[in-house]
Amino acid sequence: MSEKKTVSDFRYNSGEAKVSWAAIGEIIRQDEIIGLVKFLMAPAGGKEKEYDAQVEKVEAEIAQLVKVGKPAGKLSLGNQVQQLEAKAAKFLGAKYATFLTNCTAGFEIAHQYAGLKAGDEVIVPAITFIATIAYPLSVGAKVVLADVDPQTLNMDPKDVARKITPKTKVIMPVHIGGYPVDLDPIMKLAKEHDITVIEDGAHAFGGSYKGRMIGTIGHFGAFSFHEVKNITSLGEGGILCTNLDFGEEFGKSRFLGLDPSKQIQNWLYDVVAVKGKQGLFVPGNHSSTEVQALCLLAQMDRLETIIAKRKKAAEYLNGRLSQVDGIITPMLDDENIKSTYHLYLLQIDPQKVGADVQALKKKLQDRGVVQIPHFAPLYKFSVLRQLGYDTDAIQATCPVAEEAFNHRFTHLPLYDFTDDQLKYLADAVIDAVKELKAGK
Ligand SMILES: Cc1ncc(COP(=O)(O)O)c(C=O)c1O
Repeated sequence: MSEKKTVSDFRYNSGEAKVSWAAIGEIIRQDEIIGLVKFLMAPAGGKEKEYDAQVEKVEAEIAQLVKVGKPAGKLSLGNQVQQLEAKAAKFLGAKYATFLTNCTAGFEIAHQYAGLKAGDEVIVPAITFIATIAYPLSVGAKVVLADVDPQTLNMDPKDVARKITPKTKVIMPVHIGGYPVDLDPIMKLAKEHDITVIEDGAHAFGGSYKGRMIGTIGHFGAFSFHEVKNITSLGEGGILCTNLDFGEEFGKSRFLGLDPSKQIQNWLYDVVAVKGKQGLFVPGNHSSTEVQALCLLAQMDRLETIIAKRKKAAEYLNGRLSQVDGIITPMLDDENIKSTYHLYLLQIDPQKVGADVQALKKKLQDRGVVQIPHFAPLYKFSVLRQLGYDTDAIQATCPVAEEAFNHRFTHLPLYDFTDDQLKYLADAVIDAVKELKAGK
């Protein structure tokens, strides 16, 4: 009997061999590498000539490089992914972290662990991205929308308490814009009712709540590294973390139940159903790539600086905008809360401003200020009606979400602005609000 390998889904890890698995896949050629470089760094407007000259130089250098180098032997689930997972687990203070195609895949695995099935209920905030509820809807679970807190637009724990039933299997707090949800009351409810908590930390990698990293307070935490997030793994990517022993099964649960630690006769791995909280489940394929992991490893090193810059921009905006009566600025960090400043939550008091946020949004757009048009209350979308939900009745149970969406809030971006851009942004909001107050 061969020695038991650690459980891994790192298939085709043949190591050094005369004819290795890597030799079987088609290698990446020189022209394809140049294609990638050109894609990642396109010519800046008006600089096409210099760009072409520079690309020629890079091409010549890469031609030299291929003479002394060899193509990567593994592109999926290899050392880079392993390193990233170890680094993310350490950073988060989680026992386990797994790198996935996206955050939504993380939700899927966590729900599969919880044994979510048709008829079960999942409580989510009324305001979030549709990804939060895609898996529950796909298995016929009932999505229950909790109203939001008027100040943060995060899930209101008091409304969650009202909406728990014996069928509630999962609660999904969403840290909207990177601002942590008040998790203590939610974890208390979860404990009382034996509910699995899956934190939607799509915006909140690096945030913390009462000294613990976001994602590690619920039973699972999922993060997104999609291109719009604070850091990205080349456009798509996600991490799921947990402190449950179940995390040992992550390898299998992201990759079809393959279990290379066990061999069946005449074959190099077994395939197993994965043991969740209430029974077995059959996982999908959510494997991500080495190149994406490499990119995220590098970006993780910059995360602290990135969050600090965003925080500074938010502080500047708060400083300027809080001078204006009628503008409600978002909460910043305190000793318990460390946000990731993914988005800037701008709210107004429509009575003081004499108009609602729809008018403000238009004025900002006219001034060339792009807002994040992402977070409508979920009961507004056709999908729930199509699936037979009484969306009017749901809306009636979420008065804060409805009011905030129609009249009060928009999200501004918070990326690495130039000083001029940041000042322009604050001026634009202040001028627009002044105009609205003047009835213009
Ligand atoms: C709140 C929220 N949850 C989940 C997701 C899904 O993330 P991903 O695209 O990585 O699956 C997003 C993506 O924007 C999001 O905004």
